[in-house]
Amino acid sequence: MSEAKIASVNEIPSDLLKQLMPSHPEDVLIAFDDFEYLMMRYESAILEVRTKLEILNSELTLTQDDSPISSIHSRLKKPASIYEKLVRQGNDINLRSIEENLNDVAGVRVICAFVDDIYKVAKMLVQQDDITLIEVKDYIKNPKPNGYRSYHMILEVPVFFTHEKQPIRVEVQIRTVAMDFWASLEHQIRYKKDLPQYKADEIAAELKACADTIADTDRRMLAIREKLGTRGDKGKK
Ligand code: GTP
Ligand code: MG
Repeated sequence: MSEAKIASVNEIPSDLLKQLMPSHPEDVLIAFDDFEYLMMRYESAILEVRTKLEILNSELTLTQDDSPISSIHSRLKKPASIYEKLVRQGNDINLRSIEENLNDVAGVRVICAFVDDIYKVAKMLVQQDDITLIEVKDYIKNPKPNGYRSYHMILEVPVFFTHEKQPIRVEVQIRTVAMDFWASLEHQIRYKKDLPQYKADEIAAELKACADTIADTDRRMLAIREKLGTRGDKGKK
């Protein structure tokens, strides 16, 4: 396996690579020296962000009497998806190109109980002085036309390795349980594409209506919690 490795991150034109290995794109990336090392760095950045979120949740659980974070999920983008996205965006296929052009190799998804928890968690994470906020997409205030809602951030987090400290990018998606329910089902349905146009339009409209119902339910649940006053600062520091 090692003799097949490419010695450097030389630029290989993406159209040539496409012709060479269309059926196993992941082999191209895995063949780069240091690809594994790069993935290890992204994996480390995921661990950093997860730990920060878990610490925030533990503290908020103590001070608020309830957990703002229901669950945390993370994933490392698969080599085939990395390759496919680089090609789709017209980027070169090499390790530097991955670092420069892809913000979502490391992905963390945070599922919150209530909508206001999303903003609370996002703010607390971003205000930590070792985190750099690169980009925010607030698909809650500005939902996608299909009804998708979620709060997205691209963060840069420093990770300490044996000889150096490196800033690594991580995509963090924060959403409520309800938003996650919709996004998961919509994602599944999206892959079933062989439909006549009128049927696809009908389904898109139905999905959008479901998303709006879910957003309304999220708002009502928050209003109920506020009425009950069941969540609040217990006065602890
Ligand atoms: P990508 O090329 O897909 O990464 O899009 P982008 O770089 O424009 O970023 P964006 O913030 O719009 O979306 C990033 C991620 O959010 C996607 O990879 C999905 O995980 C999620 N996402 C965005 N839009 C939708 C949607 O309409 N439905 C679902 N289910 N997920 C979505
Ligand atoms: Mg993505």
